[in-house]
Amino acid sequence: MAKKLTEKVALVTGGSRGIGAAIAKRLADDGAAVALTYTSSPQKADEVVRVIEAAGGRALAIRADSTDVEAVKNAVAETVKTFGRLDILVNNAGTAIMAPIDQFSLDDFDRLVAINVKGVFVATQEAIRHMGKGGRIIMIGSVNSDIVPIAGVSVYALTKGAIASFTRGLARDLGPRGITVNNVQPGPVDTDLNPADGSFAEGAKGIIALGRYGQSDEVASFVSYLASPEASFITGANLKIDGGFAA
Ligand SMILES: NC(=O)c1ccc[n+]([C@@H]2O[C@H](COP(=O)([O-])OP(=O)(O)OC[C@H]3O[C@@H](n4cnc5c(N)ncnc54)[C@H](OP(=O)(O)O)[C@@H]3O)[C@@H](O)[C@H]2O)c1
Repeated sequence: MAKKLTEKVALVTGGSRGIGAAIAKRLADDGAAVALTYTSSPQKADEVVRVIEAAGGRALAIRADSTDVEAVKNAVAETVKTFGRLDILVNNAGTAIMAPIDQFSLDDFDRLVAINVKGVFVATQEAIRHMGKGGRIIMIGSVNSDIVPIAGVSVYALTKGAIASFTRGLARDLGPRGITVNNVQPGPVDTDLNPADGSFAEGAKGIIALGRYGQSDEVASFVSYLASPEASFITGANLKIDGGFAA
């Protein structure tokens, strides 16, 4: 039986580690050819490609810093050149900078907006040039666009709030073309960015209904569903996967 994403091509930004690496592997498992971007971890990106290829899939790692507009555009172009088309864009590349608002520097503000917002805009605008009916744009936002239970996260929350609004507007822009746009909003997930044994974790676990961090594979399962034909009537949705963090 054909896998659910056979003949589809996906681009996952920030696919070398954490949630993005799990998504890249899962979409490849579902049958898609997968391109993934990275900026500072070439070995980890190559390892994701190796794992996918060892399982019989097709994958490509592309160095593309999300703050570099031309690099992001080239990543889309290289994906299409290599695999012939583009059906699924997962805007996962992102980071967090935490500081009290009085101490938040303008440089850090610009950097966070450049990666978490502008990079998403550029990748999306470029990707939709190649997408037809059935196309999928999937954002990795954050539960922090709706709930900010601790101090120091205001600018990160601002960027993820922008993604939630962008998702709604894009769904309207792209609905007539048969392209769906959805925003997956994780709560705390165990990655380098937010380790389950890190200093932030003890307090966070106390307000997660399930009492534990999520795993990247759990987010990848959700993305796999949204990328599939089964999710054809879901668009413009901001969807939490947070173990009840915001319940
Ligand atoms: N972990 C959580 O608790 C959590 C919760 C809610 C939302 N999220 C969101 O989920 C996404 C992934 O987070 P994560 O926890 O998996 O983070 P992570 O473990 O730090 O991994 C980040 C990934 O993004 C890439 N990346 C970072 N900056 C980049 C840039 N400027 N250009 C291109 N790629 C870049 C990294 O590439 P390199 O390896 O090359 O550095 C890496 O592949 C982010 O958007 C984050 O905001 C995470």
